[in-house]
Amino acid sequence: MAQSVRLDEYLGQAFDRTPVSMIVVNQAGEITRANRLAEQTFGYGSDELIGQRVEVLVPERYRHAHPGYRQGFLAETSARPMGAGRDLAGRRKDGSEFPVEIGINPVETGEGTMILSVILDLSERKQNERRIQDALAQKELLLREVHHRVKNNLQVIHSLLDLQAMRLQDHDLIDALRDSQNRIRSMSLIHQTLYLSENLAQVDFARFLDELVRSLTESYRSVAGPVDIQVMASDIKLPINEAIPCGLVINELVSNALKHGFGSGRSGHVEIRMIEPSPGHMVLTVSNDGEPLPDDLDLLQTRTLGLQLVQLLTRQLGGVLDIHRSNPVRFELRFQLERLA
Ligand SMILES: Nc1ncnc2c1ncn2[C@@H]1O[C@H](COP(=O)(O)OP(=O)(O)O)[C@@H](O)[C@H]1O
Ligand SMILES: [Mg+2]
Repeated sequence: MAQSVRLDEYLGQAFDRTPVSMIVVNQAGEITRANRLAEQTFGYGSDELIGQRVEVLVPERYRHAHPGYRQGFLAETSARPMGAGRDLAGRRKDGSEFPVEIGINPVETGEGTMILSVILDLSERKQNERRIQDALAQKELLLREVHHRVKNNLQVIHSLLDLQAMRLQDHDLIDALRDSQNRIRSMSLIHQTLYLSENLAQVDFARFLDELVRSLTESYRSVAGPVDIQVMASDIKLPINEAIPCGLVINELVSNALKHGFGSGRSGHVEIRMIEPSPGHMVLTVSNDGEPLPDDLDLLQTRTLGLQLVQLLTRQLGGVLDIHRSNPVRFELRFQLERLA
């Protein structure tokens, strides 16, 4: 007997001092016990809660439904979180509200089944979450701004080369400048695609390719005949690390197709296809009918910049390049996304 009295005393003290709010409610919905933290959290003085209906702790707009929930719980009597999936609020004595998480447990007592509620005050956690979300939103804004500025700076370089080209007579030089401009444009388009997209970490490649094709067609309008360009890249997303080199490779290959595949105004087809046969494995093919690759073209020995760049970028992507020389000319680049490599 003496022992059980002592145990009651210990448990009573533990109940009082535990660092979570706890209240016990009887079947009539009256508070029979509340620990110190519960009193403090809800703004009540010592023993002020005893005998009050538990609904005083519930915001007014939810009060009407609360007794029904209580009855339901008593009927089913198993420990569970309250209002799973909903945002719960507690109401302080002064009428102010705060976010809570509540666990409810049935307890058998000499006076029948009662409900022990364990209440966590989420105010601080919610505030921290909001702070982190705000900081994250700010960082995103900044990153978007950076992409925007990089894009603008690349456009300035593009325009400078335009001005330079206008003063030149030498066609080879003008062509070389145009190729450089297109390389710069393809990088600038990656940044623009990122700047405009929801997800700042992934480039929507179909969107990028549409813009790139538009820009290249315009650039090589005077060189190539009426060429039909097909783009297949639905749902392909690349991180910027891979998007830039991959975009540059496509820029070179499509430029070549337009420049060399359909000389003297010949018409034809170009196909750009990007697929992901298994997660993270990318296969890019650029093919064109029209002129075959010259027989004497040795891709390992080429001294021209375009195909050298393609080889260099392929290495940078850790990829493998396959070439089919005629009917159609087809370049196939396989590489693996870094996160899976
Ligand atoms: N799609 C293609 N169709 C026909 N010939 C091509 C094609 N791609 C490349 N070539 C040939 O390969 C050569 C090297 O290409 P590249 O290194 O890009 O240099 P550039 O485009 O400046 O001539 C080209 O001059 C051209 O003869
Ligand atoms: Mg080229």
